[in-house]
Amino acid sequence: MTGTKKSIHGEWSSRFAFILAATGSAVGLGNIWKFPYITGENGGGAFVIVYLLCVAVIGIPIMIAETMMGRRARQCPINALETLTEEAGAHKNWHYLGWLGVIAGFLILSYYSVIAGWALAYVVKAFTGSFSGESAAQISGLFSDLQASPGQQIFWHTVFMVATMSVVARGVQGGLEKAVRLLMPSLFVLLILLVAYAMTTGAYMQGLEFLFKPDFSKMTGDGVLTAMGHAFFTLSLGMGAIMVYGSYLPKGISIAKTSILIAGADTLVALLAGVAIFPIVFANGLEASAGPGLIFQTLPIAFGNMTGGWLFGVLFFVLLVFAAISSAISLIEPAVAWVVENYDVDRKQASIYMGVGTWALGLGTVFSESFFEKIDYLTANLMLPLGGLGIALFAGRVMLQKHTQAELALDNEIEYTAWKFLVSYVTPVAVFLVFLHVLGVFG
Ligand code: PHE
Repeated sequence: MTGTKKSIHGEWSSRFAFILAATGSAVGLGNIWKFPYITGENGGGAFVIVYLLCVAVIGIPIMIAETMMGRRARQCPINALETLTEEAGAHKNWHYLGWLGVIAGFLILSYYSVIAGWALAYVVKAFTGSFSGESAAQISGLFSDLQASPGQQIFWHTVFMVATMSVVARGVQGGLEKAVRLLMPSLFVLLILLVAYAMTTGAYMQGLEFLFKPDFSKMTGDGVLTAMGHAFFTLSLGMGAIMVYGSYLPKGISIAKTSILIAGADTLVALLAGVAIFPIVFANGLEASAGPGLIFQTLPIAFGNMTGGWLFGVLFFVLLVFAAISSAISLIEPAVAWVVENYDVDRKQASIYMGVGTWALGLGTVFSESFFEKIDYLTANLMLPLGGLGIALFAGRVMLQKHTQAELALDNEIEYTAWKFLVSYVTPVAVFLVFLHVLGVFG
C-alpha cells in the first residue's frame, strides 16, 4: 500500500471543502446544546478550563492522528485499521478499535437525532410566535409540554433521521459539501447576535464569571471525566468520524494546520454559546444546572424579548438543525462506508438500513430520560476516550515512523516530534489518569 490510492467513495473537492465538512462535523449540538448544560451541571469555570486543556493536549493531537490514518488507508475506519495493522505488521486485534467507533457513532446518533428533533419542533414554535412576550416560566412550560409528548418527539426524530440519511445517501460531494458552505458562517453570525442580546440582560458579567472564573472546589472526578469526554465529543473524535472524512482528503494538504483550525473554530462556537446563554439564565432566575433542556428554556426568552426576535428565533433553530445534520452525517458515515465496502449493497440501501436501525434505538431516548443518560455516559465518557486512547497509541506506537512522517509531511522535525510525543505519551497518560481519577484512585 502506498498511501496514494483514492477512496472508492470519492474525495473532497478541495482543502476548504474538507475544512467545512470537518468543522460541520465538529460544530453541532455538542457546542450549542451540550456544552452549556454540562458546564452548568458541573459548576462553570473550572470545568471549562479542564475542557479547554483536554482540547489542546488530547483533542488536537488525536484529530491529527485520525485524519492521517484515514488518509493513509483510504477506507472506512474498520477496514482502515485492518489495512494499517497489516502494513505495520501489528496484532490483528487492533481492528476492534474500528468496531468500537462504529458502534459508538450508531449509539450517539440514536439520541442525537431526538435532540435535533426538539430543535426542529422549536423552529415551528418560533415561526408561530410562541415565544413572543412569554415569561421564563411560560417558556419552560413549552419545553415540558414537548417532553410530555412522545408522539411529537417521534415525529420530529423521524423527520431528522430521514433528512440526515438522504444527505448520506447522496455521498461525499453531492450532499455534504454544498450544505455546509453557507450554513456554518450564518450560524456564527447569529450567535454573535445572541451574545449582543446577552449584554443587555444586566447579568452579563455574572454569566462571564460563571463561565470563566474557576472554582476547583466544584469539580468532581466525574466532572473531569465529563470535560474530557466532551472534548472528544465536540471535536468528533475517538469514533472514526474524522478518520472517515480524512479518507476523502486529497493528498498534499497539511493535516496539522487544518486540525488546529477546526479545533479552534469549534471551541469558539462553544464559548460563544456559553457567553450567550448564562447571562440569560441568571437574569431570569433560572437554574444553570437545568440539564438537557437548558438552551430550550433560555434562548427563546431572548427571542421573545428582542426586536426582530421572531425572525432570529426561526433562523437560529433552523441553523441549529443544519449544524446537527452536518454532525449527524459524520456519526453514521463510518458505518455506511463499511457496509458499502464489505457487502454488495449501494450507498442508498446502506443508508436506509443504518437509518432505520438508529431510528429504532432513538425511541429509547424518547421514552426514557435515564436511557439517554446511560447511552450518553457510555459513549461520550467511556467509548470515545477509550477509542481516542487506542487511536493515539496506534498512530504513535504501532504505525511505522516513516509512514506517519510521510503522511503528515510537517515542515520541520520539531513539529513532528512534538506530535509524536503527544500521541505516544501525553495523550494516553492523560486519558488513563482521568479514568483512574473517576475510579477514585486519588481519593
Ligand atoms: N461533534 C458533534 C457535536 O459537537 C457530535 C459528534 C460526535 C459528531 C462524534 C461526530 C462524532 O455536536
